[in-house]
Amino acid sequence: PKILILGPPGAGKGTQSERLADDFGVEHVTTGDALRANKEMDISDMDTEYDTPGEYMDRGDLVPDVVVDAMVGEALSDVEGFVLDGYPRNGDQAEALREMTDLDVVLVLDVPEEELVDRLTGRRVCEDCGTNYHVEFNRPEEEGVCDECGGDLYQREDDDEESVRNRLSVYHDNTEPVLELYADHDGYVEIDGDQTPDEVWEDVRAAVEAEA
Ligand code: AP5
Ligand code: ZN
Repeated sequence: PKILILGPPGAGKGTQSERLADDFGVEHVTTGDALRANKEMDISDMDTEYDTPGEYMDRGDLVPDVVVDAMVGEALSDVEGFVLDGYPRNGDQAEALREMTDLDVVLVLDVPEEELVDRLTGRRVCEDCGTNYHVEFNRPEEEGVCDECGGDLYQREDDDEESVRNRLSVYHDNTEPVLELYADHDGYVEIDGDQTPDEVWEDVRAAVEAEA
């Protein structure tokens, strides 16, 4: 299936997308991870304000559409099934996506704002395989070490409280309006993201099975 997963920063998009990729055998296409792998890329010839994606990302601002649209277009060009996570984040990206592909399922994860701040400031990520943990809600067996691969866990540059608040405000201003564009879409399902990861997964899996 072709799945789009939407929701605010910290809603659990990455966490649930990993499970979708494993369970349904689809490709996890994530602009956040793709951009983090290319933080130092030279984008100065693309008519942007700053010269690298990292300068936007560390403060929690959106990377310019011209950079992100090209990345997604390329990533989707050679996959059949996918779960798209982190895109679109504004109306113009939604329009660009509409020209790239159709979608079978559109999932929206709902989580209250204060919970998002706690999730993001406590997140730890494996530097080798990208698996997400949380210092309280989702702890690895051994502190600071990835269960999956033994890699070291680190805190993302944009998970300090100031960047988190900015990411949430960018979400409200730019991305929340995008939800309305999908409200009438086939396969649109709102999911209560304020449950344990396993409970959310049950709802996510059921929705994809029903809609795809
Ligand atoms: P991106 O990487 O996409 O960040 P985000 O949208 O802020 O989303 P997150 O990864 O922070 O949250 P998530 O919903 O995936 O939650 P997760 O599963 O990790 O983007 C980063 C930056 O890149 C942007 O700010 C921007 O600069 C740039 N960018 C990316 N896409 C762009 C685009 N399209 N256009 C322009 N710029 C773009 O979970 C969070 C934490 O909560 C984890 O610790 C996890 O363990 C825990 N958790 C998960 N589920 C639960 C649960 N049910 N209960 C308790 N804890 C939970
Ligand atoms: Zn790992």
